[in-house]
Amino acid sequence: MAKIKVAVVGVGNCASSLVQGIEYYNGLPAKHPEAGLGLMHTKIGPYGVDDIEVVAAFDIDERKVGKTLPEAVYAAPNCTKPIIGSFTKKGGPRVEMGHILDGIAPHMADYPEQRRFVAARKKPADVAKTLRKSGARMLINYVPVGSEQAARFYAEEALAAGAGFINCVPVFIASDSAWAGRFRQKGLPIIGDDVKSQMGATIIHRTLTRLFEDRGVKLDRTYQLNVGGNTDFLNMLNNARLKSKKISKTQSVQSQMKTPLEADNIHIGPSDYIPWLLDNKVCFMRMEARIFGNIPINLELRLSVEDSPNSAGVVIDAIRCMALALDRGQKGALQAPSAYFMKHPPEQFPDALARSMIEDFIKGKSTA
Ligand SMILES: NC(=O)c1ccc[n+]([C@@H]2O[C@H](COP(=O)([O-])OP(=O)(O)OC[C@H]3O[C@@H](n4cnc5c(N)ncnc54)[C@H](O)[C@@H]3O)[C@@H](O)[C@H]2O)c1
Repeated sequence: MAKIKVAVVGVGNCASSLVQGIEYYNGLPAKHPEAGLGLMHTKIGPYGVDDIEVVAAFDIDERKVGKTLPEAVYAAPNCTKPIIGSFTKKGGPRVEMGHILDGIAPHMADYPEQRRFVAARKKPADVAKTLRKSGARMLINYVPVGSEQAARFYAEEALAAGAGFINCVPVFIASDSAWAGRFRQKGLPIIGDDVKSQMGATIIHRTLTRLFEDRGVKLDRTYQLNVGGNTDFLNMLNNARLKSKKISKTQSVQSQMKTPLEADNIHIGPSDYIPWLLDNKVCFMRMEARIFGNIPINLELRLSVEDSPNSAGVVIDAIRCMALALDRGQKGALQAPSAYFMKHPPEQFPDALARSMIEDFIKGKSTA
């Protein structure tokens, strides 16, 4: 069977976990007791993880551009916990120079090079041309939060190249009807926006919020404070870049309530940058509510999780759902994959329903 050829833009921690994860699962014999450990699906339609091949990559950092992908995923400032120590094959696509646009936040210049992006002084690649030449069927977007121009630029390049688009970042493209319409017109599928991690703060907060609703518990106030030490958190110190991220994360939880909370009673966001945490993200959550007889309760939760494998565990399925959609000629924003895999899809559903929608999608019982 032909490989699912994919391209990535932004060879940061998330791309690193994805690329290492593909190699890790490929290296395990099918009968190995841990072969399916950590995967939501071993197969999606005919596709296993071993059917995915990354054939093109773009970045703007001088320590990554020009390197092969297996080298670039370990280059600074990437800092995620390695899934594998090394790659069996050292080859692979060379990282090409991307288009910086608004990808680098000015405040990063105040931090040591080891922890921030360092722009390469190279001529940007013709992204659409590389996508076509490499045979990539889809482009996965991993540019930093707040890169509104860059994210849209790469979406344009995917359209020009005739590739699907998986938008892992909180720039509203799949959930924007005009953009989704452009993909539909071109006969291309899109999944987005802002990946909802495998066992992250969002899915837990949504699930608990839904549980409170289902059990007749009135949620009055909640917060979700997140800290981390990777470049994603460093980038998000700049409040001006956070607008869409906050909307995406807050709406994702609000959507699970019949009556959303007043803005003052819900606070969700990236909260601080703590360098020594590296790619470990820590979430502190509090929910204040009332049960039977108007009696107050509160719940406190602390989650500690490696941020980037947590997103790769979802993108590994999004890629294979996108491949199914391309095989079937499905176009526009894919409803079930966007609802299940993303924080800010075109339409929100409870996660249990989104899960059954995704199973129907995989079986070909639903067309979106
Ligand atoms: N669990 C998660 O980690 C998670 C969840 C949801 C969303 N996201 C989003 O996914 C994106 C990627 O996260 P990450 O942790 O890999 O970030 P990262 O900071 O590790 O990587 C971003 C990469 O993009 C590169 N880059 C910057 N501007 C660019 C441009 N214009 N063109 C090409 N490359 C450019 C940087 O050099 C860097 O390699 C972020 O927007 C993040 O918020 C991550």
